[in-house]
Amino acid sequence: MGDIAECSWYSLLLCSIGSVMVVYYLLRWSWQCWHGFKVYVLSEIWQTNLRTYGQWLYGATSGIGRAYAEELAKRGLDIVLISRSEDKLRRVAKEIESRYKRQTYVIQTDFTEGHSIYSAITQQLEGLQIGILVNNVGMNYMSIMLSAFFCLQRITQVINCNTLSVTQVRLSVCMLQRGKGLIINISSEAASQPQPMLSVYSATKIFVTYFSRCVHAEYRSKGITVQCVAPFMVSTNMTHNVPVNPLVKSAASFARDALNTVGYTTYTGGCLTHALQQFALSIFFPGWLRLTSFCMQRMAKLARSIEPQLRERMAETRNKQD
Ligand SMILES: NC(=O)c1ccc[n+]([C@@H]2O[C@H](COP(=O)([O-])OP(=O)(O)OC[C@H]3O[C@@H](n4cnc5c(N)ncnc54)[C@H](OP(=O)(O)O)[C@@H]3O)[C@@H](O)[C@H]2O)c1
Repeated sequence: MGDIAECSWYSLLLCSIGSVMVVYYLLRWSWQCWHGFKVYVLSEIWQTNLRTYGQWLYGATSGIGRAYAEELAKRGLDIVLISRSEDKLRRVAKEIESRYKRQTYVIQTDFTEGHSIYSAITQQLEGLQIGILVNNVGMNYMSIMLSAFFCLQRITQVINCNTLSVTQVRLSVCMLQRGKGLIINISSEAASQPQPMLSVYSATKIFVTYFSRCVHAEYRSKGITVQCVAPFMVSTNMTHNVPVNPLVKSAASFARDALNTVGYTTYTGGCLTHALQQFALSIFFPGWLRLTSFCMQRMAKLARSIEPQLRERMAETRNKQD
């Protein structure tokens, strides 16, 4: 008799724990599905009016940064373009002015040079009501092509370019004065899990992600929204213009989708396909698996086999840019 009572007591306890877990996961998955639906589907219909943040956007001359600039020019903002090449800046500014009838302003600078460039940028931005700041500049490399431990100069450039540029929130002083502004920091999927072979890049991108989330928490009460966008593969110079396909987005379509998510979330993969790829990878190819020596050997082999094509594509991209 005593045994039966003890047994039913244990069964009841296990059933209760099981039911609580089932309800917990059901609620969690339902919430995630609703969040995804809101961010990637509803946002297509009800878009935030981005002009309420201010009149000027700060963006770049090619790839994702240029696509953001063009999309926002289309939505009525004036554009500040920033990059290394004066000729490219003038050409892109002219194209935006004639295509979208917006004002442009260009700043020539090299983000690899470290902290010394920022006071000049701040001075040049004085008087412009920057409402949206897109921190898009970024550099990448493959460890197989650049021995991570020997090329200190290149590593310093990557760190300066990818991390220092996003920390210059003083560029957004005018946002603080107006009590309104939007900062969009472009991180990467490479930040969602450790990425061997892209060690410095992956580490700089997780910096961008954490920095953005912290600054958002610190400044949201002052009217500043910081959104971190972590794309997967987008066809740009950085990815040697890899052809667009259902998994790889064009920069224009990525920027349009990502801008629609503003006001819905402060951390996003940018578009539905990238969010789904991130979710699938976190399940089927998690960080711990990427770090095993088996995977490392496979990736090193793959990188070595594609290195000649990659070098060829890099040369092509460089020629096109010139
Ligand atoms: N493409 C992807 O698949 C992908 C995926 C995940 C994350 N991301 C991130 O998205 C961001 C944009 O990448 P993207 O693919 O659009 O790259 P991109 O096509 O190479 O464009 C980069 C832009 O930044 C400028 N730039 C590059 N280095 C600079 C420097 N040292 N100083 C000043 N300006 C500089 C370039 O202009 P100039 O060359 O004229 O200076 C260009 O306008 C990066 O942060 C990248 O890490 C990209």
